[in-house]
Amino acid sequence: MTIRFLLVGLLLLPLFGKGQVPALIPAPETLEMGSGTLKFSPQTRFYSSSPEIRAMVQDQLPFLKPASSASGATVFFELNPKLSLNNEGYDLRISPKNLSLKATQMAGIFYGLQTLRQLLPVSFSASSYAVPALHIQDQPRFGWRGLMLDVSRHFFDKAFVKKYIDQMARYKFNVFHWHLTDDQGWRIEIKSLPKLTEVGAWRVPRTGRWWDIANPEPGETPSYGGFYTQEDIKEIVAYARERHITVVPEIDMPGHIMSAIAAYPHLTCEPAPSEVPPNGKFYKVKDNTLNPCNESTYTFIDQVFTEVAQLFPGPYIHVGGDEAYRGFWEKCESCRQTMQTHQLKNVEELQSYFIKRVEKIVQSKGKKLIGWDEILEGGLAPDATVMSWHGLRGGIEAAKQNHPVIMTPFQFCYLDLYQGDPSAEPASYGNAKLSTTYTLEPVPDSVDAKLVLGGQGNLWTENVPHARHVEYMTWPRAFAIAEVVWSPKKKRDFPEFLTRVESHFKRLDQQEVNYARSIYNPFVSVRKHPSGSLEIVLEHEMPGTQLYYTVDNTIPDSYAPVYTQPFLLPKGTDRVKVLAYRNGKPLGRLIEVPLTDLEKRAK
Ligand code: ACM
Repeated sequence: MTIRFLLVGLLLLPLFGKGQVPALIPAPETLEMGSGTLKFSPQTRFYSSSPEIRAMVQDQLPFLKPASSASGATVFFELNPKLSLNNEGYDLRISPKNLSLKATQMAGIFYGLQTLRQLLPVSFSASSYAVPALHIQDQPRFGWRGLMLDVSRHFFDKAFVKKYIDQMARYKFNVFHWHLTDDQGWRIEIKSLPKLTEVGAWRVPRTGRWWDIANPEPGETPSYGGFYTQEDIKEIVAYARERHITVVPEIDMPGHIMSAIAAYPHLTCEPAPSEVPPNGKFYKVKDNTLNPCNESTYTFIDQVFTEVAQLFPGPYIHVGGDEAYRGFWEKCESCRQTMQTHQLKNVEELQSYFIKRVEKIVQSKGKKLIGWDEILEGGLAPDATVMSWHGLRGGIEAAKQNHPVIMTPFQFCYLDLYQGDPSAEPASYGNAKLSTTYTLEPVPDSVDAKLVLGGQGNLWTENVPHARHVEYMTWPRAFAIAEVVWSPKKKRDFPEFLTRVESHFKRLDQQEVNYARSIYNPFVSVRKHPSGSLEIVLEHEMPGTQLYYTVDNTIPDSYAPVYTQPFLLPKGTDRVKVLAYRNGKPLGRLIEVPLTDLEKRAK
């Protein structure tokens, strides 16, 4: 007995002696807790011999003041090219006496500072705060850690884009993929083609679910939209750069480009007056694809990319290539001739011919081409990088052909999908719960890991009408993406991650960033039982919850039946209601699914 107590005591000693492991997202590569804390006061000073680092520290930790010499400081920042860390890694040591942050390059200092911010209390007064003693050595698993924002379906202004970039930087993302053009709006000023924004940036205003949105009325004014001037773009690119984020512009073609066609109708096979559509109802009905067989199309693309290349210093231009409807090409006389001249067997090869010509234009501006995985169809352009969204398969195929890939499989990475039970979420489709997103593995077994640049989350905004909802759809799933692309694979532990997510909700509250609380809600799925009845499966993403449900239209509490296993829906039931409890208290929302929806879910 005594010996057992002693043993337990010895085991607990390190826990009491060392601090509690801090909630860092993404989890660092290695973290070793020390004993005690380093206390800060208004007199605490930092020192760095580098003016660049001093400026970065004052920007990122404005409450920390510089010392004029090392002897007056307790906090030290320095570049050290000899550290055995990659070019974004950092080494952070904190003892009760001092703190040192070292990195091989400025990016590593930046990421170390983000970690330091997460070590600080959520709210603290500049006069007194403390950080735990520890040693972190950290570096990212992937060099491409992205989020994509669609600003075409709805326009989000410059101030919001900066806030989004700020938030990305806090979680060590380094690529902002800016989906600047699509059918429903052209958002980048091109000075040599002014109608792109005079006409292409504006559509008729509509509210409601995407698939219900009505076409424009005759004579209706296209008053809804907006665009970024070239000055706005330069400002955002510089803002992102200061946060070690590269902006990748996407100009989607040959499909998803009705906004440009409305401005310049000669770009299609069947030129006809059109307007910027508020919906997707034109698809296959009205020619909505660039004509790949008319030289003026390539003149247009050259004009656009000349200006795009000057605005974005990063190495890539994303040219889309997804979901182009090629039916009008089949009926087009100039396309028939082009296909004959170049011995193209089908319209897939014609799209490949188009993308290869576009790649030459992109390269003539000193840039590299990225496209969605449809650019594989009909043959890849010689130096293309592929962004895989139809699951991982496009990426696997491109890597087989020795092309670099970025993994964004929709099942895990599409931030526009439902993240909780659809009955309690704004309109969407499919689903990608936080627990699903967290299990993404960007490197399939069959693929050479060197060809996988990384991964990203994509937010399409057909059903995202305003900035608060952009945030709701992004967080917390972007936490999961951040960890997938930064942290070592072996560190992934969903229940443990959730405790960190909950702690970061407090940070988001403090930063006035919206986020989804969907992980607190139960999730109802339905199967068809061989007996013909519906079989109900109740789930919850949080560990340690109990689910109480009713099938008699009463409101469940902790005296209702507790869910232990799938059950058959009794005859006559017209809805299932479920409420989760944690530690004896209701958690999240009451989920209520009527019979009509249960039947749909069973299909
Ligand atoms: C896509 O989702 N169309 C890339």
